[in-house]
Amino acid sequence: MLTLPELIDQLLNVRQLPTISSVALVLEQSLNEEEPEIQRISRIISEDPAITSMVLKLANSALYGARRTFSSIQDAVMRLGFQEIRKMVMALAIVEYLVNKNFDMIDPPQFFSHSIGVASGMELINSTAGMVTENSNQLYVIGLLHDLGRWVTANYLPEVHQHIMPENNTESENKDIIKLERQNIGLDHAQIAAALLERWGLPLTIVQGVRFHHEPDAAPEATKKLSRLIYLVDNLCMKHKIGEVGEGLDGQIPETAWKRLGLSPDAEERILPQIKAVLEHSEVLLSIGGYRGEKARQ
Ligand SMILES: [Fe+2]
Ligand SMILES: [Fe+2]
Repeated sequence: MLTLPELIDQLLNVRQLPTISSVALVLEQSLNEEEPEIQRISRIISEDPAITSMVLKLANSALYGARRTFSSIQDAVMRLGFQEIRKMVMALAIVEYLVNKNFDMIDPPQFFSHSIGVASGMELINSTAGMVTENSNQLYVIGLLHDLGRWVTANYLPEVHQHIMPENNTESENKDIIKLERQNIGLDHAQIAAALLERWGLPLTIVQGVRFHHEPDAAPEATKKLSRLIYLVDNLCMKHKIGEVGEGLDGQIPETAWKRLGLSPDAEERILPQIKAVLEHSEVLLSIGGYRGEKARQ
């Protein structure tokens, strides 16, 4: 019987998972520094011509107001600000990463809508509640990446992924995706994604937010609130069918999930339309990132 670290090593090494654009990783790692210099950030982004051209297309898209024209990355960083550019780069790097694979079991628009929905919902709730984490700049990225483990199993362990998809799992009464993954793979998708993000050198807060998105009470004290936030928003998106990643969960939200964050369940009605409003972003990002709706080449 392999230990957990051995299982993770086996999956990540043997399957040789690709990495995302190093530009996105470098920007995320440099977040802890003081306000980064515009020129330095622009230089880092310019090292990846594909990301550079996608960022400019996105900055010049209707999402950012068609009247403004950004002619260079430096101009975009200066006018949109480092945080916005960072989010753009990570989102586009993830689209670029996702579209280079098979989509037999993961539907990119559904996967991406769910990721953007959770990312935006976390930011929205955090700004309403205003107390969830000191690392509010990392919420968007955590939401964006939280279900990457589902993409990994669909592409690198397709047989077992298919076998445990809740609709195929008729023999068992057990529809808990986390339990099913642990029984059949030895790891669940939150553990897989967290291990992958750790290898990519992303900050611990991001790794832990992703790791505990299905079991927030098990999170270390320092990231408990953050984990409770992602748990809440993830369930909210599942309940209202904001994208999906084949977890087969109905997104029931216990009242305590709201209360523990200092929120009333009434917040659901207020926040939901705001989350839905940002879903058009996922379509624009997918199209700029190269998704054309066809099955990807491998
Ligand atoms: Fe999940
Ligand atoms: Fe999710």
